[in-house]
Amino acid sequence: MQTARRIAALPPYLFAEIDKRVAAAKAAGIDVISFGVGDPDLPTPDFVVEELARAAHDPSTHRYPSYFGLPDLREAIAAFYQRRFGVTLDPGTQVLPLIGSKEGIAHLPWAFVDPGDPVLVPEPGYPVYEVGTILAGGEPVYVPTSADEGWYPNFARVDRGTADRARILWLNYPSNPTSAVATLDQFEQAVRFAADHDLLLAHDNAYSEITYDGFVAPSVLEVPGALDVALEFGSLSKIFNMTGWRIGWAVGSEVAIEALGRVKTNIDSGIFNAVQRAGVAALQSGMRHLPGLVATYQRRRDRIMDVFWDAGWKVEAPKGALYVWLPTPPGESSVAFTARLLKKAGVVVAPGSGYGPSGEGYIRLSLTIPDSRLEEGCERVRKALLGA
Ligand code: MLT
Repeated sequence: MQTARRIAALPPYLFAEIDKRVAAAKAAGIDVISFGVGDPDLPTPDFVVEELARAAHDPSTHRYPSYFGLPDLREAIAAFYQRRFGVTLDPGTQVLPLIGSKEGIAHLPWAFVDPGDPVLVPEPGYPVYEVGTILAGGEPVYVPTSADEGWYPNFARVDRGTADRARILWLNYPSNPTSAVATLDQFEQAVRFAADHDLLLAHDNAYSEITYDGFVAPSVLEVPGALDVALEFGSLSKIFNMTGWRIGWAVGSEVAIEALGRVKTNIDSGIFNAVQRAGVAALQSGMRHLPGLVATYQRRRDRIMDVFWDAGWKVEAPKGALYVWLPTPPGESSVAFTARLLKKAGVVVAPGSGYGPSGEGYIRLSLTIPDSRLEEGCERVRKALLGA
């Protein structure tokens, strides 16, 4: 039996690999504390679970869902964009519910990329932008970013010919893994670049509501003209602690929504209607749970930063997303530092090199870990770093 050449080019999924390492360490008797995957430890708010239970008891939800999502959900997503970003969307043509934003991100290149077409992938970045491109036969072209430039692409350095041939430019702010945030001015540059080079700007805004120290994350769709060139992805996963439910959306350019919808109707049959109804309840709730959620993550962020600041790290605390992104000690690679923390502290972190070449020399810690384990993990890391 022979597998396809296209999967030979696929790297193993970073967190599947990390899971294997955690399992091996646990099997060796280590009490592992994982700061690995960004998977909220806190439960989905009760009112959302109750709406799911109610809807699941209604047999009409047991049949195939609509391919394009319930009209109520599309309207709730559009209303969220109006309230939160001041962006007016037509729920019929500019909103598409997804089985989690990862699903849409992975499928988008099928709608836009022909074999050999370049896709501009800023790195370090969420691995699915690159992998979705490879699966569609496209050529991921890395756009390196660095701490000195706020982990934001310098568009002037992108080769013009490549940009002209490229079909998609990916962005993701607040960023996974770097936690960098972007301003509306920076999004304006990106929209201009996309329009100049006739490509689709695809922005992953999964962390828009998780920001700290008063920073409010913008949407690329706030930029005038963005609805002609941009698609933005969002999700209930991180905002409502719903990673297991698989519900997200794409919003923006009608052309892109139609194209992605056409791919999806041929591949999947939509989101369980009961989950969609629960999603409507979540989006219509006024997000009352959010201040508490963000305060929890900000407290955890500060706890981790204190450990590294005490140990001599001179970096700023991140302003968004669910991660702390830190340089490794001088001369120590991402993988070596990750291995040292596992060996000396029984603590798992993600190696920055798993997010692209510019992630070498960095590690990522997720804030989605229960307080008591976070406390114990921080103490162990402190001892490992200070030898105290
Ligand atoms: C992560 O840890 O990078 C995220 O949880 C992955 C995801 O959102 O798919």
